[in-house]
Amino acid sequence: MGERVLVTGGCGFIGSNFVRLLLAERPDWEIVNLDKLTYAGRLENLQDVANEPRYRFVKGDICDPAAVADAMDGCTMAVNFAAETHVDRSLLGATHFIDTDIKGVLVLLEQARRIGLERFVQISTDEVYGSIAEGSFTEESLLCPRNPYAASKAGGDRLAFAYWATYRVPVIITRASNNYGPYQYPEKLVPLFVTNALRDLPLPLYGDGRNVRDWLHVEDHCRGVLFLLEHGEPGEVYNIAGGNEHENIAITHTILRLLGKPETLIRPVEDRVGHDRRYSLDGGKLARLGWTPRVPFAEGLEATVRWYVDHEWWWKPVKDHDGEFQKYYEQQYGARLA
Ligand code: NAD
Ligand code: DAU
Repeated sequence: MGERVLVTGGCGFIGSNFVRLLLAERPDWEIVNLDKLTYAGRLENLQDVANEPRYRFVKGDICDPAAVADAMDGCTMAVNFAAETHVDRSLLGATHFIDTDIKGVLVLLEQARRIGLERFVQISTDEVYGSIAEGSFTEESLLCPRNPYAASKAGGDRLAFAYWATYRVPVIITRASNNYGPYQYPEKLVPLFVTNALRDLPLPLYGDGRNVRDWLHVEDHCRGVLFLLEHGEPGEVYNIAGGNEHENIAITHTILRLLGKPETLIRPVEDRVGHDRRYSLDGGKLARLGWTPRVPFAEGLEATVRWYVDHEWWWKPVKDHDGEFQKYYEQQYGARLA
């Protein structure tokens, strides 16, 4: 007998990759996808599986208790990907971040508690630890979020733990590194730089370009989340590390080389305020359970760049959208998003 899984935020980057993975790898599971369809949520991300009988899309807000009760009805498990996710947008205004990334998590946890859900995975992030100059964060490290996005995610992360500690809601918390791969909104480093380069627009590199991120292919992230959904211990936190630390400038050079574009496209701009210098995760806890990522970074990045080259139909409509954030970004960094 299969599970019925509520996936929230399933129309976003990681959520849509996760829905596709579940449909492919768990043929007797049903999936309900609850998504508000914010700017980052797009039905196009799952158009290839939209008519699959084991999949149901519900448009709704995780902050709305009635919508959550309806979507969670009959589900045995939930994975919460829904969030406001872009650090620069949280610098423009953090209200939506507090609403979705904290209050929305509360609404989901309350409903999980009410119906006795068997598993609740809260997708947190490595950003909750803050920046680290040397070494790597373990799950025991102190949380020190340093921007409004990271602080809101830390709120949701600890609220989920509190529902385990207080009410024994069987919560599992994951903290992953920077994801890259297909269907990532072209505001984040990799898709922004690839799509700008394809249009011969400058690549706005913040500060000295030497900030370090640990890169995890989205398919590895999704496989890690599925592994924990089935094998994780309630009440535990798990880092999902990529093991691929690179400076932004190195990623930028690789993207330009793969596209055959000149390095003169690189434009050093003002640094992001409060810019975390380095993220690094210790993935030992998950490795000891027998799970490690599979995608070699060089191959994953090349395939990702190729995906954006081949899917202009996917990114063009959102890249050409002229919104409040676009104006803020262009004013702040003096560089274009589209
Ligand atoms: P995304 O911005 O691409 O997608 C977010 C999705 O959530 C969208 O479909 C959006 O419509 C939906 N959503 C937003 N607010 C909602 C609400 N109130 N109710 C219902 N749906 C709502 O995000 P992503 O990059 O796919 O990230 C998914 C999760 O993974 C987030 O929780 C994020 O914090 C976490 N995470 C992301 C990364 C990364 O590198 N992208 C790394 C680690 C963790
Ligand atoms: O670490 C996990 C986090 O990774 C997730 O929790 C977030 O949701 C996700 O957005 C991401 O946050 P970052 O801030 O690390 O990602 P972003 O792609 O915005 O930036 C990556 C690095 O590239 C960072 O050092 C800032 C830099 N950057 C980014 C942009 C958009 C630039 O230099 N120029 C840019 O235009």
